[in-house]
Amino acid sequence: MKERILVTGGTGYIGSHTVVELQNAGYDVVIVDNLSNSRADVVDNIEKITGIRPAFEKVDCLDFAGMDTVFAKYDDIKAIIHFAASKAVGESVQKPLLYYRNNIGSLINMLELMPKYKVEGIVFSSSCTVYGQPDVLPVTEKAPIKKAESPYGNTKQINEEIIRDTVASGAPVSAILLRYFNPIGAHPSALLGELPNGVPQNLVPYITQTAIGIREKLSVFGDDYNTPDGSCIRDFINVVDLAKAHVVAIRRILEHKQKEKVEVFNIGTGRGLSVLELINAFEKATGVKLNYQIVGRRIGDIEKVWANPELANKELGWKAETSTEDTLLSAWNWQLKLRERGIQ
Ligand code: NAD
Ligand code: WQD
Repeated sequence: MKERILVTGGTGYIGSHTVVELQNAGYDVVIVDNLSNSRADVVDNIEKITGIRPAFEKVDCLDFAGMDTVFAKYDDIKAIIHFAASKAVGESVQKPLLYYRNNIGSLINMLELMPKYKVEGIVFSSSCTVYGQPDVLPVTEKAPIKKAESPYGNTKQINEEIIRDTVASGAPVSAILLRYFNPIGAHPSALLGELPNGVPQNLVPYITQTAIGIREKLSVFGDDYNTPDGSCIRDFINVVDLAKAHVVAIRRILEHKQKEKVEVFNIGTGRGLSVLELINAFEKATGVKLNYQIVGRRIGDIEKVWANPELANKELGWKAETSTEDTLLSAWNWQLKLRERGIQ
C-alpha cells in the first residue's frame, strides 16, 4: 500500500515540484490548495510529467470544517507537507493581518487536526529569512533568530515556535522545519515553474520576464554593498533539488529516523552568488543579453546570506545537485513555454 501524504499549497511553485517528486518516489498525494496564488491546470501538468493524477481538493486551509472533511475523506494520511501560505514580503508590510491570519491560522488548523486523524508528522516550509543578516557565514541552523524584517518573516518565526510548543506540550506529532534559501528555476519539462502574480518581486522571474520583453529592464538594487562586486549575495537553490529534500524529510518522519521530534535543516547549496554573477550566469546559459541597470538599494534587503547545508547533507543524505546554469536555463525554458501557452 502506498503511503498518503497531504500537500497543502500543492499547486504552488515549490509544492507542485514536490508533488512530482513524491509521486516519483511512490507516495500517494492529496493536494489541498485554495488557488489563491496558483492555477488548477497545474494538476494536469503534474499528471503529464508523472503519469499519475494527484487527488486535488480546492479547500482553504483556514476553513477548519473543510479541512476536517478532507482528513475524513482521505483517512489514511500519514504526514503533511505544509506549503500553503502568503509569501510576498512587501505585501505583508501593507497587509500584516492577512499574513498573520493566513500563515498562522492555516498551520494551527493542521496541528489541531493531526492528532484527531493520527497524522504522524509535518514538514513545514520555513525560510532563511528567520536569520536576518547572519553574523557568521555560511549560516548554520544554530545561528540566532533575529527580529523579523517583515510580517511575512515574522510568521515563519512564529510558526516555527508554534510547532515547537505544540510538540513540547506532548502532542503526538513530530516535525521537520526546512529553511529554504532562494528557490529558483523550473521543472526540466517546462511544465511547472514559478508564476508570479503581477510584477515579479523576486529576481529570477524578473530576469526572465525582462529577457522575453515583458519588462523593459531589470533594476539591480545596489552595487555598494560590502561584497566583492558590490551587489547582494544569495544562495540560489534549484526548485527540483529543493523538492527532493521534502521527500527525504517525509521518509525520515515515516521511518522514525528523527533524532528529535522537531528537527531543523537549512536547504541551500552552500554557495553564495551575487546578483551580478547570477545575471552573467543567465546570459551565459541562455545566450540572451539582459537589459539591466544599477539602481539604489531596496529597503529591507539583506546584504549577504548563504547556507551551511552540512546538516542536511549528513542527516538527510540530501545535497543540491543542479548547476546554476542548468537551473537558469530551466527558468528561461519555462518563461518561453508560458508565452507559447499565452499565459505570460
Ligand atoms: P506559492 O504562492 O507558489 O505557493 C503557495 C500555495 O499555497 C499557492 O498555490 C496558494 O494558492 C496556496 N495557498 C495560500 N494560502 C492558502 C490557504 N489558506 N489555503 C490553501 N491554499 C493556500 O509559494 P511557494 O514559493 O511555492 O512557497 C511555498 C512555501 O514556501 C510558502 O510557505 C513560502 O512561504 C515558503 N517559502 C518560499 C520561498 C520562495 O522564495 N519561494 C522561500 C522560503 C520559503
Ligand atoms: C534576491 C536579490 C535583491 C529583484 C525573498 C524573501 C525571502 C525568501 C526568498 C520566502 C536581492 C535583488 C531582486 C529585482 C534585484 N522568501 N533583486 N532586482 O529578497 O533574497 O528573498 O525570497 O521566504 O524571505 O525576502 O529574494 O529574489 O527578491 O532578491 O536586484 O528586481 O536580488 O535586491 O539582493 P530575497 P529576491
